[in-house]
Amino acid sequence: MTSFMEQQPPFPELTEDVIERMRESAPRFREIMTILVRHLHAFARESRLTIDEWRAGIEFLTRAGQICSDSRQEFILLSDILGVSMLVDAIANEAGEGISDSTVLGPFYAGRQRELAHGDSILLREESGEPLIMRGRVADPHGVPIPGATVEVWQTAGNQMYDVQDPEQPSGHLRATFRTNARGEYKFRTVTPVSYPIPGDGPAGQLLQSMGRHPFRPAHVHFMISAPGYRTLVTHLFLSGDRYLDSDAVFGVKPSLIVTPERVETPERIGATQTITYDFGLARLPG
Ligand code: BEZ
Ligand code: FE
Repeated sequence: MTSFMEQQPPFPELTEDVIERMRESAPRFREIMTILVRHLHAFARESRLTIDEWRAGIEFLTRAGQICSDSRQEFILLSDILGVSMLVDAIANEAGEGISDSTVLGPFYAGRQRELAHGDSILLREESGEPLIMRGRVADPHGVPIPGATVEVWQTAGNQMYDVQDPEQPSGHLRATFRTNARGEYKFRTVTPVSYPIPGDGPAGQLLQSMGRHPFRPAHVHFMISAPGYRTLVTHLFLSGDRYLDSDAVFGVKPSLIVTPERVETPERIGATQTITYDFGLARLPG
């Protein structure tokens, strides 16, 4: 008896026909679609996809589309939980000496926020979490400081939600924009972030459950750092010791982005306050 892989694959000329009919399309589009069609057809052949399974897949994607809105992007969540977002990020953002690691943007970036002064707090209401100071420097790959770099930050509140998910939080709470000073330094006050589940009430949550995976991300603060002539860095800093560091629902953790807060006496607060000091390196844009 011959195994499936040894048999002639079903309908091989179909794949070539689909590809051939794109011959008039733009080169890069044709390249991407040719590879996509080859892999899609190979997937259907290799898995011997049944009509019921094909229909279940179509219904799943339909539900994903239906739950999307201006504030909900289920397809990005699907890309995140299947590791595609981190893969595309790795292709786009080659790492290198003196260049900080990047990670996923996520769906909760809410655009440019109010600009605060060096050392300000990003809170718009009281939070019960432990106060945290974050500070450091933004530099080029050789360690030369970049003054005037834009440092955008955002994080969840202690209730595991971003302001954009939670009508109880003032809009812009726990997010802000800073500029590095003449020495390339940034500094702001916040509360210690907590781990939180990604939205689980739609198809992405159902898929996670079917795969036997939890929906949690380890505690982190998001950064987007930009400066003219440099590649924009989209990244997070994760807190060491978090129970989800090894199983982030979106595969976003890189060892270089895990930080341990120091407890130091500061003039801003009598007593112990946690401080994270982290220096970022930006890649130069070619040319
Ligand atoms: C986030 O860290 O905000 C995030 C990233 C990917 C999916 C969901 C949330
Ligand atoms: Fe996040």
